[in-house]
Amino acid sequence: MLTHAFPSYRGVMFYRCLGCGAEHGTEDLLYTCPRCGAVLLLEDRRFPELLEKGGAYWQDLFDVRAAAKRPALRGIFRFYEITAPVLEEEDILYLGEGNTPLIEASPDLRCLVGRAFAFKNDGQNPSASFKDRGMACAFSYLRAAVRQHGWDDVLTVCASTGDTSAAAALYAAYAGGVIRSVVLLPQGKVTPQQLSQPLGSGALVLELPGVFDDCMRVVEFLAARCRVALLNSKNSWRILGQESYAFETAQALDWKTDKVCVFVPVGNAGNITAVLHGFLKLHDLAVIDALPRIFGIQSHHADPVYRYYAAPETERVFRPVEVTASVAQAAMIGNPVSFPRVRALAERYRAVAGERAFQILQVTEQAVMEGMLTANRHGHTACTQGGECLAGLRAAVAAGLVGEDEYAVLDSTAHALKFIDFQNLYFADAFPREYGVKADPSLVNAPEALFIPEEREGLDDDAFVRESASRIARRLGLTETDGG
Ligand code: F0G
Repeated sequence: MLTHAFPSYRGVMFYRCLGCGAEHGTEDLLYTCPRCGAVLLLEDRRFPELLEKGGAYWQDLFDVRAAAKRPALRGIFRFYEITAPVLEEEDILYLGEGNTPLIEASPDLRCLVGRAFAFKNDGQNPSASFKDRGMACAFSYLRAAVRQHGWDDVLTVCASTGDTSAAAALYAAYAGGVIRSVVLLPQGKVTPQQLSQPLGSGALVLELPGVFDDCMRVVEFLAARCRVALLNSKNSWRILGQESYAFETAQALDWKTDKVCVFVPVGNAGNITAVLHGFLKLHDLAVIDALPRIFGIQSHHADPVYRYYAAPETERVFRPVEVTASVAQAAMIGNPVSFPRVRALAERYRAVAGERAFQILQVTEQAVMEGMLTANRHGHTACTQGGECLAGLRAAVAAGLVGEDEYAVLDSTAHALKFIDFQNLYFADAFPREYGVKADPSLVNAPEALFIPEEREGLDDDAFVRESASRIARRLGLTETDGG
């Protein structure tokens, strides 16, 4: 039987501060630089040795490993050597994350949009969002730390717009033992489906009035003073795990990423950080020979990153914004924690691939909602943030930013069902004013009752079937044929 050995390579990982450039060891779980307070990224000191193998070696290895049967290699750690090559197999937590499908837009949808594209369905992760990629890595690191240090109590905390908390609670519930999960949510600003997830996983769910940004400030304050493990994407182990999205995308395209445009919704900016960093790594390793272009998408109701890049270069100053109600609620963030990472990586990205290789576009709430509905009417399962990506692609096409010879990959970051109440509001044309979304009747759908309940009274089963079938036939304009 073909078995794929667990990799023997071990890297030497360290945190690099994006503010002062200091390097810190990974014995402690750091979120910010102890010297200057800026955000960090994890790097492997031995990475240059990996370059010596040549790109084809890594392509072949990752392709062969796609058939691995060991649970530890079936998910995001297919890309072990370029993810977190300090973890031992026994610490790796695999709940079925990663390896999500790239689903080509149907001919009808492609025709409507005017470009060939695909959705990468990260809603098909175990907690139904891309956050599982990051949690698989962060929890594997935590398990290693618990084992090595003999810790007897680990309290994991995160602020969330819904999906981080769902993923954190799921992985904590599975890890069990000394690991406990606490999540902090903005009251009324996560969907009922998202709220049900950490509750079902048995986490302690705490709610605060306000928006995500308020919750984030509170957990940052707490993490700076108390011994807790912060699981927001400020935690760089999360970013490492989320880089697998870029690796899988390149692999699904057979490592050919020239003329590819990747669309990513931007909220706290952890995801786009990971996508940029992931593609840069593949490029450094010569696994891909061209960087795909990256389009970050924001709603006009939560667009601080868009505003920063829309300003002329010499006048750019980052200013947090006050968010207003958004159907892309999971990305409704006015002060993204990872913005400094994006700024640093976008600069590197543009230095390699040019100005047009990294862009941030703004879309309307109406376009986001219609992006989701249009995608799903064509066989996808896009969430509102996935809809935001389709809105972004349509805006990019309209503005002449994406050529006819280019291929787009849209990140559907979560499953449609998590955000289904927004579809319900649209179908009922009942959005509260602050969203600014009106229903277009051509996109509305509703069940039609064939009977009012009393009409069934007095009909025996045969009569009921006959009458129902006849009403259906009339509704559909069907005529009875002899064959019955
Ligand atoms: N899409 C979904 C479904 C999300 O849950 C998030 C973020 C984003 C997009 C934006 O990604 O923050 O990395 O830029 N959700 C976080 C949460 C904030 O708490 O679940 P980002």
